[in-house]
Amino acid sequence: MAKAKTTFFCQNCGAQSGKWIGRCPSCNEWNTYVEELVEPAAGKSDWEKANDKDNRKASPVLIGDISLAGEARLQLPDAELNRVLGGGVVAGSITLLGGEPGIGKSTLLLQLAVRLTQLKVLYISGEESAQQIRMRAERIGFKSIHCYILTETSVQNIFHQISRLGPEMVIIDSVQTLHTSSIEASPGSISQIRECTAQFLRYAKETGVPVFLIGHITKDGAIAGPKVLEHMVDTVLQFEGDRHHIYRILRALKNRFGSTAELGIYEMQGAGLAEVENPSEVLISQKEESLSGSAIACTMEGLRPMLIEAQALVSSAVYGTPQRSSTGFDLRRLSMLLAVLEKRCGFKLGAKDVFLNITGGIRVEDPAIDLAVICAVLSSSEDIPVSHRYCFAGEVGLSGEIRPVNRIEQRIREAEKLGFEKIFCSRYKMKPFEKGRFDGIEIIPVGKVEEVFALLFG
Ligand code: TYD
Ligand code: MG
Repeated sequence: MAKAKTTFFCQNCGAQSGKWIGRCPSCNEWNTYVEELVEPAAGKSDWEKANDKDNRKASPVLIGDISLAGEARLQLPDAELNRVLGGGVVAGSITLLGGEPGIGKSTLLLQLAVRLTQLKVLYISGEESAQQIRMRAERIGFKSIHCYILTETSVQNIFHQISRLGPEMVIIDSVQTLHTSSIEASPGSISQIRECTAQFLRYAKETGVPVFLIGHITKDGAIAGPKVLEHMVDTVLQFEGDRHHIYRILRALKNRFGSTAELGIYEMQGAGLAEVENPSEVLISQKEESLSGSAIACTMEGLRPMLIEAQALVSSAVYGTPQRSSTGFDLRRLSMLLAVLEKRCGFKLGAKDVFLNITGGIRVEDPAIDLAVICAVLSSSEDIPVSHRYCFAGEVGLSGEIRPVNRIEQRIREAEKLGFEKIFCSRYKMKPFEKGRFDGIEIIPVGKVEEVFALLFG
Protein backbone atom coordinates (compact mmCIF):
# COMPACT_ATOMS: atom_id res chain seq x y z
CA MET A 1 0.00 0.00 0.00
CA ALA A 2 1.24 3.44 -0.85
CA LYS A 3 2.18 5.64 2.07
CA ALA A 4 -0.52 8.17 2.97
CA LYS A 5 0.49 11.66 1.87
CA THR A 6 0.74 14.32 4.57
CA THR A 7 1.47 18.02 4.53
CA PHE A 8 1.95 20.54 7.32
CA PHE A 9 -0.50 23.43 7.50
CA CYS A 10 -0.24 26.63 9.51
CA GLN A 11 -3.44 26.69 11.60
CA ASN A 12 -3.35 30.46 11.63
CA CYS A 13 -2.97 31.48 8.01
CA GLY A 14 -3.28 28.26 6.05
CA ALA A 15 0.22 28.28 4.57
CA GLN A 16 1.55 24.82 3.84
CA SER A 17 4.92 23.20 3.97
CA GLY A 18 6.37 19.76 3.28
CA LYS A 19 8.04 19.63 6.69
CA TRP A 20 7.31 20.90 10.16
CA ILE A 21 8.57 24.42 10.90
CA GLY A 22 8.53 26.22 14.22
CA ARG A 23 7.65 29.64 12.92
CA CYS A 24 5.35 30.26 10.01
CA PRO A 25 7.22 32.23 7.33
CA SER A 26 4.03 33.81 6.03
CA CYS A 27 2.30 35.02 9.21
CA ASN A 28 5.22 34.80 11.68
CA GLU A 29 3.20 32.88 14.27
CA TRP A 30 5.04 30.34 16.40
CA ASN A 31 4.18 26.70 16.68
CA THR A 32 1.14 26.71 14.43
CA TYR A 33 2.09 23.92 12.01
CA VAL A 34 0.00 20.76 12.24
CA GLU A 35 0.39 17.68 10.13
CA GLU A 36 -2.67 16.82 8.06
CA LEU A 37 -3.43 13.99 5.72
CA VAL A 38 -3.98 15.05 2.17
CA GLU A 39 -5.31 12.75 -0.44
CA PRO A 40 -5.13 14.00 -3.99
CA ALA A 41 -8.75 14.79 -4.90
CA ALA A 42 -9.74 11.66 -6.77
CA GLY A 43 -11.69 12.45 -9.90
CA LYS A 44 -14.82 14.54 -9.54
CA SER A 45 -15.87 16.72 -6.66
CA ASP A 46 -18.89 15.86 -4.56
CA TRP A 47 -21.15 18.39 -6.18
CA GLU A 48 -20.24 17.22 -9.65
CA LYS A 49 -20.90 13.64 -8.63
CA ALA A 50 -24.31 14.58 -7.27
CA ASN A 51 -25.32 15.98 -10.62
CA ASP A 52 -23.11 14.03 -12.98
CA LYS A 53 -23.27 16.41 -15.84
CA ASP A 54 -20.55 17.20 -18.32
CA ASN A 55 -17.85 19.57 -17.35
CA ARG A 56 -18.52 22.86 -19.06
CA LYS A 57 -15.34 24.55 -20.14
CA ALA A 58 -15.13 28.33 -20.00
CA SER A 59 -13.75 30.18 -23.02
CA PRO A 60 -12.41 33.73 -23.26
CA VAL A 61 -14.94 36.49 -24.07
CA LEU A 62 -14.42 40.10 -25.07
CA ILE A 63 -15.02 42.36 -22.10
CA GLY A 64 -17.51 44.44 -24.10
CA ASP A 65 -19.57 41.36 -24.93
CA ILE A 66 -20.21 40.42 -21.32
CA SER A 67 -23.75 41.30 -20.37
CA LEU A 68 -24.18 43.68 -17.48
CA ALA A 69 -27.40 42.16 -16.24
CA GLY A 70 -25.46 39.39 -14.50
CA GLU A 71 -25.68 40.70 -10.98
CA ALA A 72 -29.18 39.77 -9.87
CA ARG A 73 -29.86 40.84 -6.31
CA LEU A 74 -32.36 39.39 -3.97
CA GLN A 75 -33.88 41.63 -1.33
CA LEU A 76 -33.86 39.99 2.07
CA PRO A 77 -36.48 40.65 4.71
CA ASP A 78 -33.81 42.34 6.82
CA ALA A 79 -33.01 45.94 5.94
CA GLU A 80 -29.76 46.03 7.90
CA LEU A 81 -28.41 42.90 6.23
CA ASN A 82 -29.43 44.23 2.81
CA ARG A 83 -27.54 47.42 3.47
CA VAL A 84 -24.37 45.70 4.65
CA LEU A 85 -24.41 43.37 1.64
CA GLY A 86 -24.67 46.40 -0.63
CA GLY A 87 -28.38 46.25 -1.51
CA GLY A 88 -29.45 42.63 -1.15
CA VAL A 89 -27.71 39.32 -1.68
CA VAL A 90 -26.24 38.56 -5.11
CA ALA A 91 -27.29 35.33 -6.81
CA GLY A 92 -24.57 32.69 -6.63
CA SER A 93 -22.59 34.61 -4.03
CA ILE A 94 -21.00 33.03 -1.01
CA THR A 95 -21.01 34.97 2.23
CA LEU A 96 -19.07 34.13 5.36
CA LEU A 97 -20.48 35.37 8.67
CA GLY A 98 -17.96 35.41 11.51
CA GLY A 99 -18.38 36.26 15.16
CA GLU A 100 -17.61 35.16 18.67
CA PRO A 101 -19.59 32.32 20.22
CA GLY A 102 -22.94 33.43 21.59
CA ILE A 103 -23.03 36.74 19.75
CA GLY A 104 -26.08 35.69 17.70
CA LYS A 105 -24.85 34.35 14.35
CA SER A 106 -27.19 31.36 14.34
CA THR A 107 -30.05 33.59 15.46
CA LEU A 108 -29.42 36.11 12.69
CA LEU A 109 -29.39 33.57 9.89
CA LEU A 110 -32.21 31.40 11.25
CA GLN A 111 -34.26 34.54 11.51
CA LEU A 112 -33.46 35.27 7.89
CA ALA A 113 -34.39 31.72 6.89
CA VAL A 114 -37.79 31.72 8.55
CA ARG A 115 -38.72 35.22 7.44
CA LEU A 116 -37.87 34.64 3.80
CA THR A 117 -41.30 33.34 2.92
CA GLN A 118 -41.03 33.48 -0.85
CA LEU A 119 -38.00 31.20 -1.23
CA LYS A 120 -37.16 27.63 -0.41
CA VAL A 121 -34.38 27.89 2.17
CA LEU A 122 -32.26 25.05 3.46
CA TYR A 123 -30.70 25.63 6.89
CA ILE A 124 -27.99 23.08 7.57
CA SER A 125 -26.78 22.77 11.12
CA GLY A 126 -23.94 20.68 12.40
CA GLU A 127 -24.08 22.22 15.84
CA GLU A 128 -27.66 21.96 17.05
CA SER A 129 -30.37 19.34 16.85
CA ALA A 130 -33.53 19.88 14.81
CA GLN A 131 -35.51 20.28 18.06
CA GLN A 132 -33.19 22.98 19.31
CA ILE A 133 -33.54 24.85 16.04
CA ARG A 134 -37.32 24.51 16.16
CA MET A 135 -37.32 25.89 19.70
CA ARG A 136 -35.22 28.83 18.63
CA ALA A 137 -37.51 29.42 15.66
CA GLU A 138 -40.49 29.48 18.03
CA ARG A 139 -38.72 32.10 20.05
CA ILE A 140 -38.05 34.24 17.01
CA GLY A 141 -41.58 33.72 15.75
CA PHE A 142 -41.49 31.75 12.52
CA LYS A 143 -43.49 32.37 9.41
CA SER A 144 -41.95 30.37 6.60
CA ILE A 145 -43.52 27.27 5.18
CA HIS A 146 -40.54 26.77 2.86
CA CYS A 147 -37.74 26.57 5.39
CA TYR A 148 -36.10 23.14 5.61
CA ILE A 149 -33.74 22.08 8.38
CA LEU A 150 -31.03 19.50 7.88
CA THR A 151 -28.72 18.34 10.63
CA GLU A 152 -25.79 16.92 8.75
CA THR A 153 -22.08 17.48 8.57
CA SER A 154 -20.97 15.34 5.64
CA VAL A 155 -20.68 17.39 2.47
CA GLN A 156 -21.53 14.36 0.31
CA ASN A 157 -24.81 13.83 2.14
CA ILE A 158 -25.56 17.54 2.13
CA PHE A 159 -25.16 17.73 -1.63
CA HIS A 160 -27.26 14.61 -2.04
CA GLN A 161 -30.09 16.32 -0.13
CA ILE A 162 -29.55 19.59 -1.97
CA SER A 163 -29.86 17.94 -5.36
CA ARG A 164 -33.11 16.28 -4.25
CA LEU A 165 -34.61 19.36 -2.61
CA GLY A 166 -33.38 22.11 -4.93
CA PRO A 167 -33.23 24.96 -2.38
CA GLU A 168 -33.05 28.57 -3.50
CA MET A 169 -30.83 29.62 -0.60
CA VAL A 170 -28.47 27.59 1.57
CA ILE A 171 -27.30 28.46 5.09
CA ILE A 172 -24.58 26.45 6.79
CA ASP A 173 -24.00 26.58 10.54
CA SER A 174 -21.00 26.25 10.79
CA VAL A 175 -18.23 25.73 8.26
CA GLN A 176 -16.00 24.26 10.99
CA THR A 177 -18.32 21.28 11.45
CA LEU A 178 -18.32 20.24 7.78
CA HIS A 179 -16.25 17.39 6.46
CA THR A 180 -15.77 15.75 3.12
CA SER A 181 -14.42 12.29 2.47
CA SER A 182 -12.39 13.46 -0.50
CA ILE A 183 -9.80 14.61 2.02
CA GLU A 184 -8.72 12.53 4.93
CA ALA A 185 -8.02 15.24 7.48
CA SER A 186 -10.23 15.53 10.56
CA PRO A 187 -13.26 17.90 10.62
CA GLY A 188 -12.35 21.43 11.62
CA SER A 189 -8.83 21.20 10.23
CA ILE A 190 -7.61 23.74 7.75
CA SER A 191 -7.60 21.47 4.74
CA GLN A 192 -11.13 20.21 5.49
CA ILE A 193 -12.52 23.72 5.90
CA ARG A 194 -10.84 24.85 2.75
CA GLU A 195 -12.00 21.92 0.68
CA CYS A 196 -15.60 22.10 1.95
CA THR A 197 -15.76 25.82 1.24
CA ALA A 198 -14.35 25.22 -2.23
CA GLN A 199 -17.09 22.66 -2.89
CA PHE A 200 -19.81 25.09 -1.84
CA LEU A 201 -18.17 27.81 -3.88
CA ARG A 202 -18.40 25.65 -6.98
CA TYR A 203 -21.98 24.77 -6.16
CA ALA A 204 -22.97 28.43 -5.68
CA LYS A 205 -21.30 29.62 -8.87
CA GLU A 206 -22.79 26.83 -10.94
CA THR A 207 -26.36 27.04 -9.71
CA GLY A 208 -26.66 30.72 -8.77
CA VAL A 209 -27.93 29.79 -5.30
CA PRO A 210 -26.67 32.21 -2.62
CA VAL A 211 -24.84 30.43 0.20
CA PHE A 212 -24.26 31.75 3.73
CA LEU A 213 -21.56 30.15 5.85
CA ILE A 214 -21.19 30.72 9.58
CA GLY A 215 -17.60 30.70 10.82
CA HIS A 216 -16.24 30.75 14.33
CA ILE A 217 -13.77 33.31 15.47
CA THR A 218 -10.57 32.77 17.41
CA LYS A 219 -9.61 34.65 20.55
CA ASP A 220 -7.80 37.35 18.64
CA GLY A 221 -10.72 38.05 16.34
CA ALA A 222 -9.71 36.25 13.17
CA ILE A 223 -12.10 33.84 11.55
CA ALA A 224 -10.91 30.48 12.78
CA GLY A 225 -9.51 28.51 9.97
CA PRO A 226 -7.34 29.79 7.25
CA LYS A 227 -7.12 33.31 5.95
CA VAL A 228 -7.52 31.66 2.57
CA LEU A 229 -11.18 31.24 3.43
CA GLU A 230 -11.54 34.99 3.33
CA HIS A 231 -9.96 35.06 -0.10
CA MET A 232 -12.25 32.39 -1.44
CA VAL A 233 -15.62 33.80 -0.47
CA ASP A 234 -17.27 36.86 -2.02
CA THR A 235 -18.26 38.60 1.17
CA VAL A 236 -16.98 38.41 4.73
CA LEU A 237 -19.31 39.78 7.38
CA GLN A 238 -18.45 40.19 11.00
CA PHE A 239 -20.98 40.18 13.78
CA GLU A 240 -19.64 41.97 16.82
CA GLY A 241 -20.60 43.64 20.01
CA ASP A 242 -20.31 43.12 23.69
CA ARG A 243 -22.21 40.05 24.82
CA HIS A 244 -23.35 41.96 27.89
CA HIS A 245 -24.71 44.83 25.85
CA ILE A 246 -27.84 44.50 23.81
CA TYR A 247 -26.48 46.07 20.64
CA ARG A 248 -24.85 44.05 17.91
CA ILE A 249 -23.03 45.44 14.91
CA LEU A 250 -22.77 43.79 11.55
CA ARG A 251 -19.89 44.96 9.36
CA ALA A 252 -18.59 43.89 5.99
CA LEU A 253 -14.85 43.18 6.14
CA LYS A 254 -14.76 42.32 2.47
CA ASN A 255 -17.42 42.71 -0.18
CA ARG A 256 -17.01 41.97 -3.86
CA PHE A 257 -20.43 43.46 -4.56
CA GLY A 258 -20.53 46.61 -2.49
CA SER A 259 -18.89 48.93 -0.06
CA THR A 260 -17.33 47.77 3.18
CA ALA A 261 -18.20 51.00 4.94
CA GLU A 262 -21.79 50.10 5.70
CA LEU A 263 -22.89 49.03 9.10
CA GLY A 264 -25.94 47.20 10.38
CA ILE A 265 -27.15 47.63 13.93
CA TYR A 266 -29.31 45.15 15.80
CA GLU A 267 -30.69 44.88 19.25
CA MET A 268 -30.76 41.43 20.88
CA GLN A 269 -34.18 41.00 22.39
CA GLY A 270 -36.04 38.16 24.03
CA ALA A 271 -37.55 37.29 20.66
CA GLY A 272 -34.56 37.46 18.36
CA LEU A 273 -32.63 40.31 16.81
CA ALA A 274 -34.48 43.52 16.06
CA GLU A 275 -33.18 45.95 13.47
CA VAL A 276 -32.26 49.37 14.82
CA GLU A 277 -33.43 51.90 12.28
CA ASN A 278 -32.59 55.08 14.17
CA PRO A 279 -29.27 54.38 15.89
CA SER A 280 -28.78 58.01 16.88
CA GLU A 281 -31.73 57.92 19.22
CA VAL A 282 -30.70 54.77 21.03
CA LEU A 283 -26.96 55.39 21.29
CA ILE A 284 -27.25 58.62 23.24
CA SER A 285 -27.97 58.12 26.90
CA GLN A 286 -31.16 59.96 27.74
CA LYS A 287 -30.43 62.35 30.55
CA GLU A 288 -32.42 65.17 32.01
CA GLU A 289 -29.58 67.37 33.18
CA SER A 290 -26.16 67.50 31.60
CA LEU A 291 -23.28 65.91 33.49
CA SER A 292 -19.67 66.76 33.00
CA GLY A 293 -17.45 64.49 30.96
CA SER A 294 -19.70 63.72 28.04
CA ALA A 295 -20.06 65.14 24.55
CA ILE A 296 -22.00 64.03 21.51
CA ALA A 297 -20.33 63.36 18.20
CA CYS A 298 -21.94 63.24 14.82
CA THR A 299 -20.23 60.39 12.97
CA MET A 300 -20.86 58.67 9.69
CA GLU A 301 -20.85 54.94 9.28
CA GLY A 302 -21.00 54.30 5.58
CA LEU A 303 -23.69 56.52 4.22
CA ARG A 304 -25.55 56.81 7.48
CA PRO A 305 -25.02 59.62 9.96
CA MET A 306 -25.15 58.56 13.57
CA LEU A 307 -24.98 60.44 16.83
CA ILE A 308 -23.01 58.81 19.56
CA GLU A 309 -21.83 59.86 22.95
CA ALA A 310 -18.22 60.05 24.09
CA GLN A 311 -17.72 59.88 27.85
CA ALA A 312 -14.48 60.73 29.58
CA LEU A 313 -13.27 60.63 33.13
CA VAL A 314 -10.17 62.55 34.09
CA SER A 315 -8.88 62.15 37.62
CA SER A 316 -5.58 62.53 39.44
CA ALA A 317 -3.39 59.49 39.11
CA VAL A 318 -3.12 57.73 42.43
CA TYR A 319 -0.26 55.50 41.43
CA GLY A 320 2.91 56.67 39.77
CA THR A 321 2.12 56.06 36.14
CA PRO A 322 -1.09 57.63 34.91
CA GLN A 323 -3.46 55.28 33.14
CA ARG A 324 -5.07 55.79 29.79
CA SER A 325 -7.85 53.47 28.89
CA SER A 326 -10.38 53.59 26.11
CA THR A 327 -13.29 51.48 24.95
CA GLY A 328 -14.55 51.87 21.41
CA PHE A 329 -11.85 54.37 20.44
CA ASP A 330 -8.26 53.88 19.36
CA LEU A 331 -5.98 54.25 22.40
CA ARG A 332 -3.10 55.69 20.39
CA ARG A 333 -5.38 58.30 18.94
CA LEU A 334 -6.52 59.21 22.46
CA SER A 335 -2.89 59.66 23.53
CA MET A 336 -2.35 61.88 20.52
CA LEU A 337 -5.36 64.04 21.37
CA LEU A 338 -4.20 64.35 24.99
CA ALA A 339 -0.77 65.45 23.79
CA VAL A 340 -2.39 68.09 21.58
CA LEU A 341 -4.39 69.38 24.55
CA GLU A 342 -1.25 69.48 26.67
CA LYS A 343 0.80 71.34 24.09
CA ARG A 344 -1.77 73.72 22.62
CA CYS A 345 -4.06 74.48 25.53
CA GLY A 346 -1.62 74.06 28.37
CA PHE A 347 -3.56 71.33 30.15
CA LYS A 348 -1.46 69.32 32.50
CA LEU A 349 -2.94 65.95 31.78
CA GLY A 350 0.39 64.21 32.24
CA ALA A 351 -0.32 63.36 35.86
CA LYS A 352 -3.95 62.35 35.31
CA ASP A 353 -5.72 59.11 34.63
CA VAL A 354 -7.90 59.39 31.54
CA PHE A 355 -10.67 56.94 30.77
CA LEU A 356 -12.70 57.18 27.62
CA ASN A 357 -15.78 55.27 26.64
CA ILE A 358 -18.00 55.31 23.57
CA THR A 359 -21.47 54.43 24.81
CA GLY A 360 -23.49 51.54 23.43
CA GLY A 361 -20.46 49.24 23.21
CA ILE A 362 -19.65 50.15 19.62
CA ARG A 363 -16.31 50.87 18.01
CA VAL A 364 -15.88 54.02 15.95
CA GLU A 365 -13.25 54.71 13.35
CA ASP A 366 -14.55 57.95 11.92
CA PRO A 367 -11.99 60.72 12.73
CA ALA A 368 -14.87 63.20 13.06
CA ILE A 369 -15.36 62.01 16.61
CA ASP A 370 -12.05 63.65 17.72
CA LEU A 371 -13.68 66.95 18.57
CA ALA A 372 -16.26 65.33 20.82
CA VAL A 373 -13.55 63.28 22.53
CA ILE A 374 -11.56 66.43 23.27
CA CYS A 375 -14.64 68.20 24.59
CA ALA A 376 -15.52 65.23 26.82
CA VAL A 377 -11.99 65.17 28.24
CA LEU A 378 -11.95 68.94 28.83
CA SER A 379 -15.41 68.84 30.34
CA SER A 380 -14.42 66.16 32.82
CA SER A 381 -11.13 67.84 33.62
CA GLU A 382 -12.84 71.23 34.25
CA ASP A 383 -15.93 69.60 35.74
CA ILE A 384 -18.16 71.80 33.60
CA PRO A 385 -20.89 70.01 31.64
CA VAL A 386 -21.27 70.38 27.89
CA SER A 387 -24.90 70.92 27.01
CA HIS A 388 -26.67 67.88 25.66
CA ARG A 389 -28.16 70.07 22.99
CA TYR A 390 -24.74 70.56 21.35
CA CYS A 391 -22.98 68.16 19.06
CA PHE A 392 -19.57 68.00 17.41
CA ALA A 393 -18.11 66.91 14.11
CA GLY A 394 -14.45 67.60 13.42
CA GLU A 395 -11.08 65.95 13.16
CA VAL A 396 -8.29 67.35 15.33
CA GLY A 397 -4.86 67.79 13.75
CA LEU A 398 -1.50 67.65 15.47
CA SER A 399 -1.24 71.41 15.77
CA GLY A 400 -4.65 71.64 17.38
CA GLU A 401 -6.49 72.74 14.27
CA ILE A 402 -10.02 71.50 13.69
CA ARG A 403 -10.04 69.87 10.29
CA PRO A 404 -13.04 69.47 8.03
CA VAL A 405 -14.76 66.11 7.71
CA ASN A 406 -16.62 64.56 4.81
CA ARG A 407 -20.38 64.81 4.23
CA ILE A 408 -20.80 67.65 6.68
CA GLU A 409 -24.21 68.58 5.29
CA GLN A 410 -25.62 65.16 6.02
CA ARG A 411 -24.27 65.30 9.53
CA ILE A 412 -25.79 68.69 10.13
CA ARG A 413 -29.13 67.50 8.80
CA GLU A 414 -29.14 64.50 11.13
CA ALA A 415 -28.32 66.68 14.14
CA GLU A 416 -31.05 69.11 13.13
CA LYS A 417 -33.55 66.30 12.75
CA LEU A 418 -32.82 65.10 16.26
CA GLY A 419 -33.38 68.55 17.71
CA PHE A 420 -29.85 69.67 18.54
CA GLU A 421 -29.37 73.42 19.05
CA LYS A 422 -25.77 73.82 17.93
CA ILE A 423 -23.27 71.87 15.92
CA PHE A 424 -19.56 72.65 16.13
CA CYS A 425 -17.59 71.93 13.00
CA SER A 426 -14.47 73.04 11.17
CA ARG A 427 -14.29 76.54 9.80
CA TYR A 428 -12.07 75.45 6.92
CA LYS A 429 -13.44 74.53 3.51
CA MET A 430 -16.89 75.37 4.76
CA LYS A 431 -19.02 76.83 2.01
CA PRO A 432 -21.59 79.23 3.36
CA PHE A 433 -24.95 77.44 3.21
CA GLU A 434 -27.75 79.32 1.51
CA LYS A 435 -30.18 81.05 3.81
CA GLY A 436 -32.85 78.91 5.34
CA ARG A 437 -31.04 75.65 4.56
CA PHE A 438 -30.49 74.75 8.17
CA ASP A 439 -32.92 76.87 10.12
CA GLY A 440 -33.41 74.57 13.07
CA ILE A 441 -29.76 74.38 14.10
CA GLU A 442 -27.00 76.88 14.66
CA ILE A 443 -23.73 76.03 12.92
CA ILE A 444 -20.66 77.11 14.84
CA PRO A 445 -17.49 77.07 12.77
CA VAL A 446 -14.32 76.67 14.80
CA GLY A 447 -10.69 76.69 13.74
CA LYS A 448 -8.66 75.69 16.78
CA VAL A 449 -8.98 73.67 19.94
CA GLU A 450 -8.41 76.86 22.00
CA GLU A 451 -11.45 78.48 20.40
CA VAL A 452 -13.67 75.53 21.29
CA PHE A 453 -12.38 75.70 24.83
CA ALA A 454 -13.09 79.41 25.09
CA LEU A 455 -16.59 78.96 23.68
CA LEU A 456 -17.57 76.13 25.97
CA PHE A 457 -15.68 76.63 29.21
CA GLY A 458 -14.07 80.07 28.91
P1 TYD B 1 -26.59 32.32 19.01
O1 TYD B 1 -27.30 32.71 17.77
O2 TYD B 1 -26.73 30.90 19.44
O3 TYD B 1 -25.06 32.68 18.91
P2 TYD B 1 -23.92 32.06 17.99
O4 TYD B 1 -24.58 31.22 16.94
O5 TYD B 1 -23.23 33.26 17.43
O6 TYD B 1 -23.04 31.29 18.89
O7 TYD B 1 -27.07 33.33 20.14
C1 TYD B 1 -27.11 32.94 21.43
C2 TYD B 1 -27.39 34.06 22.39
O8 TYD B 1 -28.44 34.90 22.00
C3 TYD B 1 -27.78 33.44 23.69
O9 TYD B 1 -26.92 33.95 24.68
C4 TYD B 1 -29.19 33.81 23.91
C5 TYD B 1 -29.40 35.01 23.04
N1 TYD B 1 -30.75 35.08 22.46
C6 TYD B 1 -31.61 36.08 22.86
O10 TYD B 1 -31.28 36.92 23.70
N2 TYD B 1 -32.85 36.17 22.27
C7 TYD B 1 -33.28 35.29 21.34
O11 TYD B 1 -34.41 35.40 20.83
C8 TYD B 1 -32.38 34.25 20.93
C9 TYD B 1 -32.79 33.24 19.90
C10 TYD B 1 -31.13 34.17 21.52
MG1 MG C 1 -24.46 29.13 16.70
